[in-house]
Amino acid sequence: MNILVINGPNLNMLGIREPEIYGKATYADLLEQIKAEAERLGVEVSFVQSNSEGDLVDAIQCAYGRQDGIIINPAAYTHTSIALLDAVKAVGIPTIEVHLSDPDTREEFRKTSYIREACIATVKGRGFSGYLDALRLLVESCRE
Ligand code: DQA
Repeated sequence: MNILVINGPNLNMLGIREPEIYGKATYADLLEQIKAEAERLGVEVSFVQSNSEGDLVDAIQCAYGRQDGIIINPAAYTHTSIALLDAVKAVGIPTIEVHLSDPDTREEFRKTSYIREACIATVKGRGFSGYLDALRLLVESCRE
């Protein structure tokens, strides 16, 4: 089973950006934790991070026929991008939306998620653990 983990804009700045919201651990730390959990579960995991919306659309399209599941934190594009929603709908791959914080309890503009309706689940407000939860959920749903 192959799982693609996609992170959107500014998530490469984890550890530096707003540590009071996102914590002090880095993007590299996040990848290590996900890799360890993937190994435990016996699944292959690969990663894409980009600050560009088009690159994220390309990554989703590229997953077609190659990946069994997608975990995506679209970051700020969550609240703006119909293109990401359409890409997830287009490939039809089971996808889970993840957020480190809980955008629904923050500013009003963070309460809209365009991608949510195309996802099988949303995990939010659980920090790095949210990605591990999402991985377990995807593996369970793919093995059903
Ligand atoms: C985020 C929440 C978004 O509102 C924000 O733009 C991010 C990160 C999160 O993981 O909590 O960049 O997706």
